[in-house]
Amino acid sequence: MSKDLAKTVGFTAMKDGTKEDYLIIKENDEKTAQELADRLIDHLKEMEKDDGAYKINRLEHVLQCATRASRDGADDDWVVASLLHDVGDVLAPFTHGQVAAEILRPFVNEEVEWVIRHHGTFQMFYNKSLSEEDRNLRDQHKDHPYYQSAVDFCEKWDQCSFDPDYESEKLDFFIPMLKEFFTKEPFNQ
Ligand SMILES: [Fe+2]
Ligand SMILES: [Fe+2]
Repeated sequence: MSKDLAKTVGFTAMKDGTKEDYLIIKENDEKTAQELADRLIDHLKEMEKDDGAYKINRLEHVLQCATRASRDGADDDWVVASLLHDVGDVLAPFTHGQVAAEILRPFVNEEVEWVIRHHGTFQMFYNKSLSEEDRNLRDQHKDHPYYQSAVDFCEKWDQCSFDPDYESEKLDFFIPMLKEFFTKEPFNQ
């Protein structure tokens, strides 16, 4: 397919770009941002290919987590965050919580962002292959105002969501919410 040259910059090095060039980039960036939900949905579908040796695949895990949040009456910030909390699993195995937190940060409240950022440390509490010290690494946050919220996220929604017998909502159930969520005005950039 031929590229629309009217909508392509004239420069080959950024330092040579004109104001008009950068307005073309800006327009393109805005379109890319509007497509964020679609890109995340594609990635969630990719997660179906990998089970990480659990009894259910990674997509089923996050659907289960988000379904539990939704059925507990949590608000959209929590439900969307539960659905996306592990999107970094295979791309950033050492920092997956931070990756999800940064995707969510412009659109969610500070508490949700903090919990998702740190949930990996809080999930370590359940891993009996770790030393006592590592399992209790969450204690470093004991005095943080969102500590209990992170404990609750892991206990009620995350650590228990590896159950093949749980009847989760399908991905389609969450798509309208995702599209609305990621096309709203980002408020924390
Ligand atoms: Fe996680
Ligand atoms: Fe998880």
